[in-house]
Amino acid sequence: MNYEFSQRVQALKPSAIREIFKYAADPTVVSLSAGNPAPEAFPCKELAEISEKLLRENPVAAFQYSFTEGYPVLREQLKKYMAEKHNSFKDFDDLIITSGAQQVMDLTTKVLVNEGDKVICEAPSFIGSLNSFRSYLGQLVGVPVESDGMNMEALEEALKNNENVKFIYTIPNFQNPSGVTMSYEKRKKMYELACKYNVIILEDNPYGDLRYSGEHIPTIKSLDTEGRVIYAGTFSKVISPGMRVGWCIAPKEIISKIVVCKQGEDVHTNIWSQMVCSEFMANYDYEAHLENLRNIYRKKAQFAMDLLDKHLAPKITYDKIDGGLFIWCKLPENVDMPEFCKTAVLNKVCVVPGNAFLTDENEKTNAFRINFSTPTDEQLEKGIKILGEVANMLF
Ligand SMILES: Cc1ncc(COP(=O)(O)O)c(C=O)c1O
Repeated sequence: MNYEFSQRVQALKPSAIREIFKYAADPTVVSLSAGNPAPEAFPCKELAEISEKLLRENPVAAFQYSFTEGYPVLREQLKKYMAEKHNSFKDFDDLIITSGAQQVMDLTTKVLVNEGDKVICEAPSFIGSLNSFRSYLGQLVGVPVESDGMNMEALEEALKNNENVKFIYTIPNFQNPSGVTMSYEKRKKMYELACKYNVIILEDNPYGDLRYSGEHIPTIKSLDTEGRVIYAGTFSKVISPGMRVGWCIAPKEIISKIVVCKQGEDVHTNIWSQMVCSEFMANYDYEAHLENLRNIYRKKAQFAMDLLDKHLAPKITYDKIDGGLFIWCKLPENVDMPEFCKTAVLNKVCVVPGNAFLTDENEKTNAFRINFSTPTDEQLEKGIKILGEVANMLF
């Protein structure tokens, strides 16, 4: 049979890069390509205790249908937390619980983007979000990322030269994949430009709580006086990605459209997971838990950077990171990056080629991404040593 797919899905082509991931399934390959939390970062004992008590004392609430907007107790907790800790819940805002931050990208695009509308993104950016924008036939406009965030002159050019820009998508903290954090000056400038050109900002902040060194920088949402920032939060990197609990803060009118769309997607986010996250936030020491995660990742990040210095310098360079889960490595300009990644995987270490994260995958880049949170120390040691050997083999 000939299957005729919708135009929206036709636009999503399987990427050549996914070929590389097939190798990562081989247990003898060291995978530095995932973005998963470290296995030791899950609060397993606490989540087991909460689940046991919940299912003993209140099983029907956990198993029954619930509200599309989310578990009311968790919504109130998050509104308070985001207002008090981050000044990121304003009088004009509302909050909906979503199935991870990924669903915020999907729902935001669904409610705002018509076919052919533009979405301005950092180049490089998170592939899952880019694919959500593409799936609604939004056109991606990439703006280069510098060591302190998007190039603001290029952003203004993009806003000036493109019609129907619906929103600017940004990951301001420890960006996936570049590891870059946007400076406070650039956050203010981005907000100013969004006001000047009358566009929305979609601020995706899964790594903000995972700063293990340097100064905290306020969110763009905290600067929002006009109701033009949509904020995506998630428990994926700080409690569990498998539980699929995230949230969206946006002006009330936008949230009410998102609620209708979410009803048609998945009715509501898993209520059992929401209740467990709520209880964890309320009755365990959430701040101490975050501090513990920062300690784990600070150590792992330093371990990985020491290995990069030992095995890859000076041939392969990277910018030191202060948070998040990724390091963006750069090959010399004249080196064939896809060839390097392919040779690495044939030598049993898998990294992600940088072009996977570009708004146009056919563009050239000499970078690749490594993740240090998922592999064990032994795997990191083995994997980065092999990368050094591959570099010595090829250039
Ligand atoms: C920048 C960014 N946004 C969103 C997500 C999706 O997160 P979630 O598991 O909350 O859907 C990820 C996951 O890796 C991410 O890196």
